[in-house]
Amino acid sequence: MTIGGGVPVGALRDRVEAGFRAAVADLVKLVEIPGIAWPAFDPAHLDHSAEAVAGLLRDAGVSNVRIVRGAGQNGKPGGPAVLARKPAAAGQPTVLLYAHHDVQPPGDPEQWSAPAFTAVERDGRLWGRGVADDKAGIIMHLAAYRALTDMLGAGFGLGVTFFIEGEEESGSPTLDGLLNVHEEQLRADVVIVADSANWQVGVPALTTSLRGLVDGLIEVEAFDHGLHSGTFGGPVLDAVTLLARLIATFHDGDGAVTIRGLPAVKNPAAPEADIDEKEFRAQASLPNALQLAGTGSIAWRLWNGPALSIIGLDVPGTAVASNTLLPSARAKFSLRLAPGTDPDKAMEAVRRHVLANAPFGAEVRFVPGSASAPFSASPHDQASRTALWAMEQAWGVAPVRMGVGGSIPVVEHLAGRFPEATILITGAEDPDSRAHGPDESVHLGDLQNGILAEALLLAALGNKRRG
Ligand code: BES
Ligand code: MN
Repeated sequence: MTIGGGVPVGALRDRVEAGFRAAVADLVKLVEIPGIAWPAFDPAHLDHSAEAVAGLLRDAGVSNVRIVRGAGQNGKPGGPAVLARKPAAAGQPTVLLYAHHDVQPPGDPEQWSAPAFTAVERDGRLWGRGVADDKAGIIMHLAAYRALTDMLGAGFGLGVTFFIEGEEESGSPTLDGLLNVHEEQLRADVVIVADSANWQVGVPALTTSLRGLVDGLIEVEAFDHGLHSGTFGGPVLDAVTLLARLIATFHDGDGAVTIRGLPAVKNPAAPEADIDEKEFRAQASLPNALQLAGTGSIAWRLWNGPALSIIGLDVPGTAVASNTLLPSARAKFSLRLAPGTDPDKAMEAVRRHVLANAPFGAEVRFVPGSASAPFSASPHDQASRTALWAMEQAWGVAPVRMGVGGSIPVVEHLAGRFPEATILITGAEDPDSRAHGPDESVHLGDLQNGILAEALLLAALGNKRRG
């Protein structure tokens, strides 16, 4: 079988297989670099990580490889992104390949079975921080590109732009400015975002919707200074209790979000898949007694509904706790938004709710943080059909169109700038990958199939004339 009369599928499969161990070796090297885009971590690692990615692209023969940065707050540059471009031959479309090279902090080293930044192979998987999220995405793009250039050499007319971001995990704070500067370099007909997951090990998926994310701080300032809890306690409630009472208004008795203006809306991308409750509980290792929150199917709650969580608290730790009524306390909230919800309106809805529910007349302050928009794909365009075809070829299994409860800020930025482009969201994670947690891993068989699917997709897109 050949693709559009050009590339034989079997030959491409062989190329991908022949190059796979080298791709895994490259992934192992990347995992050794702890590039974390948080102010508390050494930015030299992030630079080193960008340079390593740039080196791999240069070695693969991609021209114009550059490291670029957006302008951050107070003059500090943003995380280093790698931008590279192989121009399209006349009449050929351009594909933008996105992944990110920054990773989540490793967390408690005690929780890892092996050091986080030493990739080890075991049970058909590779383990280490960033091995799935999202260094596997970089490797998918790189190895697919290498397979195609090996096979087609100069005859490979498709335009290919690589954009490997360096601050996705910290919410892409300088991305918009970076896109302003490089918009023309990034313009493409099709975008492949390799930062998501497959449905299960052995079952590929195309991600058709993502949730957005807004966050911010809630501060309760109850009184002026710490008070003796015996002298004043009873008539006076402490600030942590007041903050807890405020936080408790965010959900009803079923655990559904109560904030007005955050409806669960039928997602127009309408992924038809659902998630089995038992499997879902097993993926999260939930104790049997722990009840789930909200109503409706699991997929409905994850893909079409909001999620409001408290992800940090500024209160004294128990080791230094004394019998004092605390005067103030602060929480950081994180709100996931279903497709169709406007992030600015959602932020405003939380602000209004928080100020309207100030407990016992305490002074409550709301400090808005970052906001990124949800995404839902236009359902049935040609490039998505080609991507689904490529996945089916690679795995020999019908792919699933699915939503994802997580967020990828670049997607809505690109959708807004390039409304004509089709955005395809793929990735090498699976429900056992434990992205962001200890013992993160990627399934090597699925990674290889993902590379093949992408190579097939690129070959097919290259065979099509623009328009
Ligand atoms: N790769 C994830 C997004 C994702 C999550 C895809 C789950 C598939 C399944 C991405 O790197 C991520 O974690 N994004 C952040 C974005 C945030 C900081 C704006 C997220 O969702 O928390
Ligand atoms: Mn990611």
